[in-house]
Amino acid sequence: MSLSIQLVPVEKNLENSEAIANIHKEHYDRVPYLPSAEDIQTSKTQYFWAYVNEERIGITGYYLKTKTLAETVKTIIFKEYRGKGYGKILSQEIEDKCKSIGIKKIMSTIYSFNIPMISIKLKQGYMIEGFHPDHEAPGFDEYSLGKILK
Ligand SMILES: CC(C)(COP(=O)(O)OP(=O)(O)OC[C@H]1O[C@@H](n2cnc3c(N)ncnc32)[C@H](O)[C@@H]1OP(=O)(O)O)[C@@H](O)C(=O)NCCC(=O)NCCS
Repeated sequence: MSLSIQLVPVEKNLENSEAIANIHKEHYDRVPYLPSAEDIQTSKTQYFWAYVNEERIGITGYYLKTKTLAETVKTIIFKEYRGKGYGKILSQEIEDKCKSIGIKKIMSTIYSFNIPMISIKLKQGYMIEGFHPDHEAPGFDEYSLGKILK
């Protein structure tokens, strides 16, 4: 049986924003900027809980840059669930979600050291569209990867 992940929209309230902020803190080991619960509460990002059966295994999200262009963000598989193929499925699920709401192009920025996510996106048909040296802070280079949805 093939693996499947359900996306459940995260309702914007303080409790959920704190939970998402803590997930960022726990799962991004070496990044210069982590959003606070207040940042999350006021951001335009729509977050989703990722479930396998009844178990919450990660989060993902997107925000609209225009009506047809979305940036996907914070695709995280909780540590205990990594290496099982869920990252690939979750990346595809957020793409499918964006497509279902009329998005024609998706993109994301990924730290240059994040080989797992860069490899997932390239295999899913994204192109490297840009390189941003010292983007969030000195030493934190990022790639922009984009995909036109057909
Ligand atoms: C990136 C992340 C979502 C991947 O989740 P995952 O469930 O472990 O990924 P998968 O099991 O689906 O593996 C995906 C691919 O990455 C590869 N991969 C995994 N870890 C790797 C590593 N350390 N080095 C190189 N490749 C790696 C796997 O080989 C696999 O590719 P393949 O099956 O084609 O060989 C997870 O590591 C994570 O949550 N990281 C922290 C948050 C993050 O950086 N998110 C991305 C922000 S843009």
